[in-house]
This record gives sequence, structure tokens and C-alpha cells, in this order.
Amino acid sequence: MAPIGVFDSGVGGLTVLRALRRVLPAEHFIYLGDTARLPYGTKSAQTVARYSLQCAAALVGRGIRCLVVACNTASASALDVLRQRYPELPVIGVIEPGAAAAVAASASQCIAVIGTEGTIAGGAYQAAISRLCPTARVLAQPCALFVAMAEEGLTEGPIAAAVARHYLEPLFARAAADECPHTLLLGCTHFPAFTTVIRDVLPTQVRIVDSAETTAAAVALQLESTRPAGASSGSVRWLATDSAARFAHSSSVFLGAAVNAADIDIIDL
Ligand code: DGL
Repeated sequence: MAPIGVFDSGVGGLTVLRALRRVLPAEHFIYLGDTARLPYGTKSAQTVARYSLQCAAALVGRGIRCLVVACNTASASALDVLRQRYPELPVIGVIEPGAAAAVAASASQCIAVIGTEGTIAGGAYQAAISRLCPTARVLAQPCALFVAMAEEGLTEGPIAAAVARHYLEPLFARAAADECPHTLLLGCTHFPAFTTVIRDVLPTQVRIVDSAETTAAAVALQLESTRPAGASSGSVRWLATDSAARFAHSSSVFLGAAVNAADIDIIDL
């Protein structure tokens, strides 16, 4: 059975890959981290769309039967152009599934979303949430530093805690008591690595959601008729555009176990 292609700017998409492997244990995956050009979140939508098309071409060239855009920034800027370029290929992003998870978790209809500068400035989450729930109120906050810190493996301890406070305290302080968000959507696939330090900053009633599980469910549904049988015979082929050692080091935070640097092929896009 042909593999499923998954890409992100770096290791953040591993949060989605992990959920995909749980739901689809018999599938073969090719994961591409465009580590040479990370971060995507500070770049223009045009540049992110161009990079995304190049990532997709590398994966399509390796025979994938479905493409998962495991990056919110790329999903926000490039999903339409990817679908136009590959009309026969199922292309699934993380924004719609993430918005669905937030709306489902949110009784109060007031949702806070954090993401990269590009994702937040483009308003993709704000639009996706209001399509699902037109009365929802969305508070959005870019948190660019988290991406570099996640790639560095710096997701716990005093520095990570201080950065979480820096971004999140004003977001929740800004909201009036009667409209304080009850849901925080992690709108960047790098951010689930910070769940512990983020949890410590939030009022206790706030639920944290991300798009990994709902994206995996969307992929499973999409591939329902072509899924291989079996419980665990799947595999992952690893691709990155720079430094296998760095990718391997930061992967452990996201996967629970580190990827072996020798198993990562460095490719040029
Ligand atoms: N992990 C990516 C996302 O979900 C982007 C990180 C970056 O490259 O800025 O948005």
C-alpha cells in the first residue's frame, strides 16, 4: 500500500504523526521536516505556499497516496494551492480539525487560540471557528518563540515557564471575567510540547486542545476504503532538509523516543 506523506517545517508535525500512527498503525508514512527553512511562521504567505508546494512535490515524487499538512502555518497559506496542484490526491490540513476540536470542547463559545505570527495574522483559525460557530468569540495571540524553543528541545523549566507566562498571562488578563476563554487551542503543531508549562499559567477551568487527534481522525475517515488491515506493521521513513542530528535530538520530545539520526535522509527541495 502506498505511504501517507506528512510534512511540517520541523519536528512540530511529529505531534500529528504520533496521533496518525495510533489511529492507523498498519500504514506506512513518509515524514518530511523542512528544517533548513524553519521557521515558516515568520515568513510571508507566498513564501510558505512556495515551500509547501516543494515539500509536497518531494513527497508526491515518492509515491504517497494522501498528503497531511502537519503545520498550521502551511495549512493556513497553502492548502488551496496544494489541492489545486494535486486534484486527485487527498490533502488534509490541521486548521479545520483544530477548529472543530476547539468548538467541540468549548461550552462558553469563547476560545483563545495561539499560533505562529503567520497563522494568527492570516486569521485562518478565526475564520474556521466562526464557520463552525458563528457566535464564537476568538482571542488570538502569536507565540513565535515557542517554535525555536521546541526545535531546541527547551520545553520545560524556568525559561519555558517564563515564555508561557509572557504570552498567556496578558491573553487571559485581557478577557473580562464573564468572557474568559474556557478553551485554549494550540494552533501550532510545535506547541503541544509546552502543555505542562502552559497548564501552569492558565486558570484551572481552561481546557487545552490541539489538532493532532482530530486531524488523525479526519485522515482515517478519508482513507477508510483503502486502509490496510493489521494492528502494527506500519513504518515511518524520515526526511529532513538539514541536520539529521538536530532533528533526531528534538524528535524525542514529540515522539517519546528519539529518531535515530542515521535513519534520516537529508534531501534538497
Ligand atoms: N509547526 C508549524 C505550525 O504548526 C510552524 C512552525 C514554524 O515553522 O514557524 O504552524
